[in-house]
Amino acid sequence: MMNIEQIRQDTPYCLDKLFVNSAGSSLQPTVVVAAVKNYLDKEAQLGGYTVADTNGVAIETFYEAIAKLLGTQSSNIAFTHDATDAYLKALSAIPFQKGDVVITSNDDYASNQIQFLSLQKRFGITIKRIKTLANGDIDIAHFQELITQKTPKLVAITHVPTNSGLIQNVEAIGEICYQKAILYLVDACQSVGQLVVDVQKIKCDFLSATGRKFLRGPRGTGFLYVSDRALAKGLSPLFIDGGGAVWTKEQEYQVLPTARRFQTWEKPYALMMGLTTAIQYATTIGLANIEAYNEQLMQRLKHNLAAIPNVKIFDKGAKTCNLLTFRKGDKSAPAIQKVLNDHSVFHGLSTKEWGVIDYGKKGVDWTVRLSPHYFNTLEEMDRLAEIIESI
Ligand SMILES: Cc1ncc(COP(=O)(O)O)c(C=O)c1O
Repeated sequence: MMNIEQIRQDTPYCLDKLFVNSAGSSLQPTVVVAAVKNYLDKEAQLGGYTVADTNGVAIETFYEAIAKLLGTQSSNIAFTHDATDAYLKALSAIPFQKGDVVITSNDDYASNQIQFLSLQKRFGITIKRIKTLANGDIDIAHFQELITQKTPKLVAITHVPTNSGLIQNVEAIGEICYQKAILYLVDACQSVGQLVVDVQKIKCDFLSATGRKFLRGPRGTGFLYVSDRALAKGLSPLFIDGGGAVWTKEQEYQVLPTARRFQTWEKPYALMMGLTTAIQYATTIGLANIEAYNEQLMQRLKHNLAAIPNVKIFDKGAKTCNLLTFRKGDKSAPAIQKVLNDHSVFHGLSTKEWGVIDYGKKGVDWTVRLSPHYFNTLEEMDRLAEIIESI
């Protein structure tokens, strides 16, 4: 069982506010901040290179912590500066040619959609989007059809979109990709840290994530999982540096055998120590416990909001998680945000450019986003609903 009282003591800055923006950038536990400061202090005393040289074992725990979180080996993990950096490195490893097909969903993250459009512009690839069912879920039957007809170069799916609580069925898609030996890239930026994410079950070749959101790590951190299958194929980023490869002869270089070929040489080691600590903190509590408690929080919030006239929740899908988007009657975004701010409710605002297809279908161009996490309490979900009622 989780000790919420202790967890809140570990995050003292959650006590003086109602923080529900973990989908943006969460509150870090004190131990995370201490790990960063401690490492920075050492760098101040000795210089960064000496500290890195003498802290090899501690740095190695970064890869071990993420491997444990995802159910893989540390040789399958690369540090990246954020989720997008991880995603771009994975995309750049795929030798796209004119006519290649990328299959994605209507709910994939905006930046990923921009990257596919950029690939379309430069290399003439074709983008195919899997249909969405009336309940908001991805249409697996349509995906079956598409993958059989098009033999794509890549299937790319966002596990949890930035602008709704939808959980896309990445396992079902992964099984089909695996059977057909099609490369599969999963954006797990909003799911890692709030849900159990197991790369063996998802069967992906690449999985990208960020440190600052539901993992509660520092900004400027992320990581990429690369499967053994992708490594064995020799996939490596197009723009690789001396951190990912060795210049062996005048005309040759050799990529590293592990996923670290996806890293660049320079890294923010202090932040890596912070993210390691954040992941260790979460895995000690247990991701299954976090997921179960988060579900309780969200049920309570949704139940409370359902009783308030004019509150419209926009999230769809058979399975949703701790990302709730809403509007209230004809109230403007600034009007809603003012009341939330006045009550120290730290929240997010999602706008149409971050979900053009989804918001187009929903017929809105913004929603207010609430993303409670396991340091929140059920009482806070009651108070939050009362505040929203008062708008
Ligand atoms: C689903 C999803 N993918 C990717 C990203 C990009 O993450 P980062 O800013 O760490 O690159 C975000 C950020 O909000 C996101 O919500």
